[in-house]
Amino acid sequence: MTEIKTTIDIHNLDIDVDKAAILKEINNLPDSDWYFVKFHGGWICGLYNDREEGSGGWFPKGFNPNLPEDGAVVKAIRDHIFPYVGGTGNITIIRTPPNQGLNDHLDSTPEEMGTDKPKFRWVLKGKLETMYFFDKDYNKVSFTPTSDKYIVNGAHPHGMYNNGDETKFTMCLGHPWQDNEIFRRNIETQVSQVVTFPNKVLDSWVDQRFIHGKVGVGITEVQNIKPT
Ligand SMILES: [Fe+2]
Repeated sequence: MTEIKTTIDIHNLDIDVDKAAILKEINNLPDSDWYFVKFHGGWICGLYNDREEGSGGWFPKGFNPNLPEDGAVVKAIRDHIFPYVGGTGNITIIRTPPNQGLNDHLDSTPEEMGTDKPKFRWVLKGKLETMYFFDKDYNKVSFTPTSDKYIVNGAHPHGMYNNGDETKFTMCLGHPWQDNEIFRRNIETQVSQVVTFPNKVLDSWVDQRFIHGKVGVGITEVQNIKPT
């Protein structure tokens, strides 16, 4: 059995779209596009909704209608990220001001802890080394990426704290994207790290949406509050 990678640094995905132009488009989104997700304890904003019409999301299927058509965000995602990962999925931005973080959590259901659930991430701005993963002794093992693009195993409990001096913006690919052959081929040559898994899932790591059967519908406790 192949070992499950905790993180994979991506050095073979060149996105020839200016990060400053991407950030400008994101900063121009209205405050009402930002949601505070209580479980994660962080600010999130949708860029691409891959859910079928009528099954949730903050805007209709496709790109956030407040983004410029054929702009920097659209080009980066449509022309570079989706082809690299071999499919489409919801794309969000996590915004983390200095001295804030994300609560310790699993991206997966508790039953899936210990399996391989790769998640693509691209840091657009801010300190790279803010994430950690819990090992078999429940110690935090920090992750120091060597690239601004990387894969993390969402079925490995993790958290983050931004002790940098600027707000961090991280692009995240999620559901319903699935691991596939094109993705595997693209990442197979890339450097990876492995952290051991804890034996038990802590209740605090589990998103209660999974327990109540409301997976991935973007339920939030607070919305439309100006990001700090
Ligand atoms: Fe996560």
